Amino acid sequence: MTVALKKIANDTQAPPKAEPVRKIALVTGGTGGIGSAICKKLCDMGCLVITTYRNEEKAKAWQEEMRQMGYEPIVKACDVSDFASCQSMVSLIEQDYGPINILVNNAGITKDSTFKKMNVQQWRDVMTCNLDSVFNVTRCVIESMLDRGYGRVINISSINAQKGQFGQTNYSAAKAGMHGFTKALAQEVARKGITVNTISPGYIATDMVMAVPEDVRNNIIAQIPVGRLGKPEEIAHIIEFLVSDSSGFITGSNIAANGGQHMD
Ligand code: CAA
Repeated sequence: MTVALKKIANDTQAPPKAEPVRKIALVTGGTGGIGSAICKKLCDMGCLVITTYRNEEKAKAWQEEMRQMGYEPIVKACDVSDFASCQSMVSLIEQDYGPINILVNNAGITKDSTFKKMNVQQWRDVMTCNLDSVFNVTRCVIESMLDRGYGRVINISSINAQKGQFGQTNYSAAKAGMHGFTKALAQEVARKGITVNTISPGYIATDMVMAVPEDVRNNIIAQIPVGRLGKPEEIAHIIEFLVSDSSGFITGSNIAANGGQHMD
């Protein structure tokens, strides 16, 4: 009798559900303030998260710190300013883990200077790290996203792309270029299940913003209606929204998170 009941129970059981596919997310420059929050959020969402680094010692220490918090991101050496370096980084990831589903172009630097004092190196370093990198990494992942009919590309720009910033002709130009890229690529890949969007953070409490001289920084904070710097987690929250399967109709957009400092 027991056996017969067991048999019926087994027959009426729903077939085992297929394991949800673990998405692979590549976050460039993930060891920084905003990048770390993005990596944690994507890990929390169940993604396999990989980030790029240039400084091995810093990256290993960051990875250990993340592990102690219960996160297991993978780190890969890459100079995002260099196309060949991006090609080998992406092909290693594909070979070891599989195709990349989510790309967050987050790597960026500042070399602030008034324009009359800016030298060619300060211009080039910021353009290559912040803007060429977007071409370099996206170009290496887009064909696989097109083949698979799915992708999320998110470019981390800046409020200073939208409004300009004294002392940042290089950075403002590069970050504004990112959103032009977003809008053009979004049109090219829209029919293939790939969305491309920009996030424009305002002044967020990270090392980059803390490097601004204190008096200048305090002046900036005084111009933020919300009355404080943003938190990296507030940017990661937008990533969660854009990566969601329910956000497939949002593409070519620029989502600003700047405490009301710039509205357009
Ligand atoms: N508007 C108008 N004039 C300004 C000014 C401003 N915002 N800031 C400075 N000036 C004036 C000064 O009063 C001074 O005038 P005088 O010569 O008449 O006295 C002059 O400009 C100073 O010019 P210098 O070329 O000598 O500038 P400096 O060497 O003192 O420093 C700077 C210039 C490096 C750009 C400095 O102002 C600075 O660090 N500014 C902050 C730039 C900034 O916001 N960076 C953001 C970094 S974080 C980030 O980028 C993340 C993100 O996405 C938001």
